Amino acid sequence: MLHLTAVDITKTKTASLVIPVCEDKDIHENTTISALVKKAKKIKEFAGDKGDEVTFYHLKEIKADRVVFLGLGKLEKIDMESLREMAGKATKEMIRKKLPAALIAVPSAHKIELEMPFVLEALLEGAFLANHLFDKYKKEKKYTPLKKINFLVKPDEAKKYKGLSSRVAAICHGTILAREWVNTPPNDKKPERLTRSMITRAKKENLKVTVLDEKKLKQKKFGALLAVAAGSQSKPRMVVLEFNPKKAEKTVVLVGKGVTFDSGGINLKPSASLADMKSDMSGAAAVAATLIAAAKLKPTFKIIGVIPVVENMPSGNAARPGDIIKSYNGKTVEIGNTDAEGRLILIDAISFALERYKPQILIDMATLTGACVVALGEKIAGVFSFDDALAESITQSGKKTHERCWRMPLPEDYKELFKSDLADLNNMANTRYGGAITAALFLAEFVTDTRWAHLDIAGPAFAKKESAYCGSGGTGFGVRLLCDLLDKF
Ligand code: BES
Ligand code: ZN
Ligand code: ZN
Repeated sequence: MLHLTAVDITKTKTASLVIPVCEDKDIHENTTISALVKKAKKIKEFAGDKGDEVTFYHLKEIKADRVVFLGLGKLEKIDMESLREMAGKATKEMIRKKLPAALIAVPSAHKIELEMPFVLEALLEGAFLANHLFDKYKKEKKYTPLKKINFLVKPDEAKKYKGLSSRVAAICHGTILAREWVNTPPNDKKPERLTRSMITRAKKENLKVTVLDEKKLKQKKFGALLAVAAGSQSKPRMVVLEFNPKKAEKTVVLVGKGVTFDSGGINLKPSASLADMKSDMSGAAAVAATLIAAAKLKPTFKIIGVIPVVENMPSGNAARPGDIIKSYNGKTVEIGNTDAEGRLILIDAISFALERYKPQILIDMATLTGACVVALGEKIAGVFSFDDALAESITQSGKKTHERCWRMPLPEDYKELFKSDLADLNNMANTRYGGAITAALFLAEFVTDTRWAHLDIAGPAFAKKESAYCGSGGTGFGVRLLCDLLDKF
């Protein structure tokens, strides 16, 4: 769907050409394009300011039916994210106009003071991700995604960067897959069903798949996970996806929280907080999708996805506040609050992963706390790690992919806050302040000497409103971030 092309726009017929315009500099090398930009800027209402837009039809200079000029703003403001947004906006506009394809003119990397691979990566990502519609549940489909998005480059660049478009496509496919899983209504993704969907996709990419069903989970004493699942009619699962290249020396484990619906359990959530809790499996979605993307990108080390999948429901069989359960690694936990279920399924998944795979690095991703959303807002994830280098790599990947992350502290003395009189730990801290930190410290109790990071994605995993290259709902947050991060190991 993404193609780099070096056609001559004065000779080749195109339906729709998109030209990004900088407010205070000519950013194109192609002289025809520069001349067209000059012409567009003569229009009073178009200055190339960010968000400015004007469309010309049947220009005599080129063989395009229409040319859409999109403003990028001032040169100093142009970065990978503004390029993603521009390409996303262009793509969405073509979809709205019911056009089948687009040709986007790539600005000169040199002129916008970026490197060409980053310019292309950003433009391709923005376009690819914006070209996704989630209309599975609509009887009438109003729009269709574009069949082709072409990028106008110089002839040598078309060849040189061919591999780049397949890499971007693999990663963005992952993001979209994660978005689709998150958007799926909770009645259609109860643990067994979501698991099956993940297995089908993983097997297509030749990942090794293991599933622990309820019987196995009971046999192996996943006590914390089973306590969360107890209230639901739907049986829990633990999915393990393995990318196992030959001669691998290192192992990275990714753990993702997979709560297909978080009602809160017996500590039932208030109505307003229930609405978006189908998204409580966003960590699981991101991890499974990252493994599927990694299978295409083929790194040289092992990547294991460990994905506990449960539904958190109240019922006569549900775990109660006050219950004490024994987790997979033997530590006991008093359930102070059944709505703090994420940490329960994660500790069993983490303990199992450490025992079974002995990884050098373990990263977990979870929509873990409302407190993290209070701290960092809806667009930034919290990073928790004792390992400075790992935390820094994650925040750097966040900057590059614009899946932003902010490091949070893990103060030793806060561990006091989730002590239990009766059990080894309480899953609920005795204060509501610093909830994202106490949740992370709770997880840390189950991590041995492995390099570990926890990402709380409760804010950025789900968006109420659409944005330049994402629809409303699941954002697929974490897939691009993890793929970029894995590239560094
Ligand atoms: N799934 C929620 C966290 C959440 C909140 C995700 C908002 C996305 C948006 C989690 O299981 C939860 O309920 N956490 C509680 C913990 C508390 C009971 C200690 C919370 O954050 O209130
Ligand atoms: Zn909860
Ligand atoms: Zn939850």
